[in-house]
Amino acid sequence: MTAAHATDPRALALSCLTEVSVGAKLALTAQASQAIAVEGPWLDSIGPGRCPSMPEPGRPERPPLVAPRELKQRKLNSVEGRAALIHAVAHIEFNAINLAWDAVYRFPDMPDDYYRDWASVASDEARHFSLLQARLAQLGYQYGDFPAHNGLWQAAVATEHDVMVRMALVPRVLEARGLDVTPGMIERLTRVGDRDTVAALELILREEVRHVAVGSRWFAYLCDQRRLESRSTFLGLLQHSAGALPRGPFNVSARLAAGFSPEELEALEKIC
Ligand SMILES: [Fe+2]
Ligand SMILES: [Fe+2]
Repeated sequence: MTAAHATDPRALALSCLTEVSVGAKLALTAQASQAIAVEGPWLDSIGPGRCPSMPEPGRPERPPLVAPRELKQRKLNSVEGRAALIHAVAHIEFNAINLAWDAVYRFPDMPDDYYRDWASVASDEARHFSLLQARLAQLGYQYGDFPAHNGLWQAAVATEHDVMVRMALVPRVLEARGLDVTPGMIERLTRVGDRDTVAALELILREEVRHVAVGSRWFAYLCDQRRLESRSTFLGLLQHSAGALPRGPFNVSARLAAGFSPEELEALEKIC
């Protein structure tokens, strides 16, 4: 048997997750995801052990968090309006870094590839965030300049008890929602001629397909392990979750590429 490597990916994930400084979180994320990509096998070093609930991940004091209904919709024909939209997506990406690290940190007893997959997602999310942060700077703004909402982290807390529920309701609902709505944003930004932001969102959209696919992969693995039928299990979790149900229209080609089956999409169309 190969000796387990000393570096515990969950400990690395925790240090990234709890870091409050944006710059330090990005730097730590790059280091930790690189280490996790090449290290292992961890075998039994990733032992059981329950993680305490984390009502707040590491994040800077700004942006202030408000209820979603308090967020203003701004028109994209002003620089401020576009900056507000980019800021909203940057906030999603910042949360996505924490969500990916929480997936690594929180759930023991998963195969090594599970930790590698989510560490690589964290690294993508940090890159997405940095792209948008740079774009905001070009427009004269920075992350923290607009209020934001806390819905994504609430979903993390609501699914912290079970990795199967997390895989169903975070990547396969929230990240999948990004696949559905990003083409519309790209269209609106194209209409106002913001090519640089369009280029960033196109790259993000391409890479998010893999994140949802990672969620599909591990959701299917866990259903198999528990001898559950994956389609009815997913639909059942959706209907019993406190979060909003997915809303169409769906980006069918992206969702198919991300591991939704045609039958699953058909069933989703019926309940949503
Ligand atoms: Fe992302
Ligand atoms: Fe993502």
